[in-house]
Amino acid sequence: MAAAEAAIRAVVDGLGGIHILVNNAGITRDNLLFKMTEQDWDLVMGVHLKGPFNMTKAAQKHFVEQKYGKILNLSSVSALGNRGQANYSAAKMGVRGFTRTLGIELGPFGINANAIAPGFIATEMTDATAARLKMDVEEFRKLNADHNPVRRVGFPEDIAAAAAFLCSDEASYITGQTLYVDGGAKLG
Ligand SMILES: NC(=O)c1ccc[n+]([C@@H]2O[C@H](COP(=O)([O-])OP(=O)(O)OC[C@H]3O[C@@H](n4cnc5c(N)ncnc54)[C@H](O)[C@@H]3O)[C@@H](O)[C@H]2O)c1
Repeated sequence: MAAAEAAIRAVVDGLGGIHILVNNAGITRDNLLFKMTEQDWDLVMGVHLKGPFNMTKAAQKHFVEQKYGKILNLSSVSALGNRGQANYSAAKMGVRGFTRTLGIELGPFGINANAIAPGFIATEMTDATAARLKMDVEEFRKLNADHNPVRRVGFPEDIAAAAAFLCSDEASYITGQTLYVDGGAKLG
């Protein structure tokens, strides 16, 4: 909590205020349940749930005072269930509940809280998954693209565009929502 408060304080002091908080940090520690260690469960919960809790708690003080703030959390399509990701899936569904609750509690103070649930996005995280599965990165991306309704993988720009909108004043009547940016991956 102290580190989160110091980080937010540094932003407020250095930039003269804080308007947007994006809880983006993430890790995976995938394994089938019977092989998953307690340490890997705790680590994933800590980064995806306790981290956003600490950061949001530290930021909301400033947001409430100024009656303005945008919070964006990163969930995942894995929240809907994914083999080998009991820890990550539970954490990402937790992010969804956390976001809805922030919407309810902070709405009266001019603060919007939303989440994005990305599908397969080409980043170091999915490259690491390819390595773990002993697959070539391009082969892994193609496999995912071939199974996606829009026949491509996602890119960080796809998430950035949705994030920019959800953190804009044009989205001020949207709160507590989780937007799936996944090329329709979980449609059917
Ligand atoms: N890439 C995908 O397909 C995908 C899909 C769904 C959701 N997500 C989510 O999107 C977010 C970004 O993922 P990404 O694909 O860019 O992953 P990434 O591995 O490329 O980047 C994650 C970043 O989080 C940072 N990080 C990890 N633990 C941290 C900690 N304890 N404190 C501070 N920083 C920490 C890492 O240093 C890294 O810069 C994550 O929350 C991830 O779970 C990604």
